[in-house]
Amino acid sequence: MSLRPTVRPATPQLRRRILAWYQTNARNLPWRKTKNPYRILISEVMLQQTQVTRVLEKYHRFIRRFTSFEVLARASAAEVIRAWSGMGYNNRSVRLRELARIVRDRFNGRLPSRVDELLLLPGIGRYTAHAVACFAFGQRVPLADTNIARVLARLFPGEGPDPWSIADRILPRRHVYEWNQALMELGATICTAARPKCTSCPVVRMCPSAFSIAARKATLHKKERGRNGIPNRIYRGRIIELLRKSNSRGRGLMDIGRGVKPNFSAADHKWLVTLLAGLERDGLIQSRNRGNSVVLRLAS
Ligand code: ADE
Repeated sequence: MSLRPTVRPATPQLRRRILAWYQTNARNLPWRKTKNPYRILISEVMLQQTQVTRVLEKYHRFIRRFTSFEVLARASAAEVIRAWSGMGYNNRSVRLRELARIVRDRFNGRLPSRVDELLLLPGIGRYTAHAVACFAFGQRVPLADTNIARVLARLFPGEGPDPWSIADRILPRRHVYEWNQALMELGATICTAARPKCTSCPVVRMCPSAFSIAARKATLHKKERGRNGIPNRIYRGRIIELLRKSNSRGRGLMDIGRGVKPNFSAADHKWLVTLLAGLERDGLIQSRNRGNSVVLRLAS
């Protein structure tokens, strides 16, 4: 697939492609199968801090134990903290219980649906308020978490640092639930921070960053085939030269490492072993066990 970018992504086409991709690639996650505001709120608070796989284990346990705002409101802090265990950030679980009490006492047990009301509840920030308004109450509001911010920064470089304003500008009229989930899904599974999978991306042809990501990957690979900016072929030459000058008993790994690379350390060990294995495979050197260690010499 060509990674050559076009200019600025045309929004209708971008939306169509991302929504179509989501239809066939969405992970099957339990909070996507419910409109229950309580369950959606619990999942979103959990997902703020923790990876999806870990949340999956804890989410089921939590909502089985505390089935509604009413049940959560009655629980003690200790009970809630215990059910939250393994999730970290225990104060979030206590704030959730506080929220449940407010929902019970002031809202008749029903979570408010408006963003401005949600924002007044403990532990609810802009992201969670918008996520709940959209996913539980079907409201047409934009969303920007870390994943979405990264996707938008790559698709719309030069539109400023505020992902919320881009998310707002490109928000479709319809299918907003799917759209917001799709952007998150794209960021979580394709447009990842460290290793974006541009060749699997539904909008690679419309992404001004795809080309530079591919180029950076290529140089990363090149860099990995060396050490301290020096290519491996130079080190291979140094190793051969060192062994050529050594006697027939050969040299040990540390000895070779120190001989070919300044500041050779334990962190370079694996790299050196790979280099030496390559030289042996190429028939240039031979390895031999001496006691508990390995010595290397030129091939005979
Ligand atoms: N991260 C935050 N909210 C999420 C959701 N609804 N689905 C998947 N990942 C998420």
